Amino acid sequence: MATTGLIVRNARVHPTLGQPVEPVDVSVEGDRIAAIRPAGSIPADGRRELDAEGRLVSPPLVDPHVHMDAVLTVGEPRHNESGTLIEGILTWAERKPFLTHDDVKTRAREAILWEVAQGTGLIRSHVDVCDPSLTALRALIELREEMRDLVELKLIAFPQDGILSFPNGKELMREAMRLGCDVIGGIPHYEWTREDGVEEVHFLFDLARETGAPIDLHCDETDDEHSRFLEVVAARTMRDGMEGRVVAGHTTAMGSYNDAYAFKLLQILKRAGVTIVANPLDNIVLQGRFDTYPKRRGMTRVKELDAAGVNVACGHDSIMDPWYPLGRGSMLDALSMLVHVAQMTGRTELFRAYEMVTTNPARAAGIEWGVKEGLEANLVVFDAADEAEAIRLRPAARWVVRRGRIVAETEPARSVVHVDGGAQPVTYTPARGVGSTARDPVPALP
Ligand code: FE2
Repeated sequence: MATTGLIVRNARVHPTLGQPVEPVDVSVEGDRIAAIRPAGSIPADGRRELDAEGRLVSPPLVDPHVHMDAVLTVGEPRHNESGTLIEGILTWAERKPFLTHDDVKTRAREAILWEVAQGTGLIRSHVDVCDPSLTALRALIELREEMRDLVELKLIAFPQDGILSFPNGKELMREAMRLGCDVIGGIPHYEWTREDGVEEVHFLFDLARETGAPIDLHCDETDDEHSRFLEVVAARTMRDGMEGRVVAGHTTAMGSYNDAYAFKLLQILKRAGVTIVANPLDNIVLQGRFDTYPKRRGMTRVKELDAAGVNVACGHDSIMDPWYPLGRGSMLDALSMLVHVAQMTGRTELFRAYEMVTTNPARAAGIEWGVKEGLEANLVVFDAADEAEAIRLRPAARWVVRRGRIVAETEPARSVVHVDGGAQPVTYTPARGVGSTARDPVPALP
């Protein structure tokens, strides 16, 4: 009789999108998914059982772009009243001298728990390395180890104030990689000149050659249509044979490029295998600030990139920090904003978008991700019928499983309305099934 592991019963898993979805049982042995079989066909054997009751069982969510060193600092030392990106950077520069090891660890730990509770299993955090003492980086390297049973945390060396424009910037990047950063970050559009930005990009790729690390840079996060560092990134990616190992975040200038240039850029991004990470929560409030009306949305061209075959993902970016005072570490909040801003509310588009917080960012990190036999037993039971309903309801993560162990659980909220002399439950799902997505077939994706 097996006593370790789990059986997740009556799960709605999509092994191959486009196939009819029948409920299955997922057998977990040790830290692996041992078998996925039609519901009811795995006999009870003493393992703990979770009844998904037909709910969505998903791979864990992935947050490919967040700043864990800055989380939960909103209002310190002051609020960003203009709401602009630049005031955010200046406010952060005022907060940075007060960073301590414990301060960073305490805040980041709390925000990571928020993300894990809501179903996130892989987090890639940028860490500001424009600090001669590298205080935040040292703290997060410790935390990466301490949290490894809860979440996979990867750290990106991020030069918030530039590399050429910050004293000793190149040496700080090298030191960050020596200390154990997983990924090389960058911010070419923030350098003082176009030429400095190009030099920064070449420095990042040279550092990648030296260290063997992949690259994940902030790129063209501005409404300036002349900010065109992404083409330099794509070209150098191809020349260095780094296809599939380079990620560019934000790229909001793409929302302002003319269509002829954007078309050319899409082609070379696809050839270069560069992943684009949109951060819709931050960028819908940070961009367009110099516009009156019409006011630009300030998000990269998510729908067009995806249609062109570019790997696209969605990040949370900020959780209560100088750039974005809101947020609760929910990747489904971020995805909800993405489908609104990108106008991806078609039935098939919603399922497509769900991949932007699961399999697409995992692919960019070089990790196979899914609810599949033989893979690590990482999964989430959401209180929703399917992916489209998960985006609509942003439901509780009923159980979050990492390496075969339940690491978080949430009781769904229960609401009743006192009406007609009784208490009527409210579930936000049409009682007669009208408009419910659960009974519709899952669309085939290209
Ligand atoms: Fe960012």
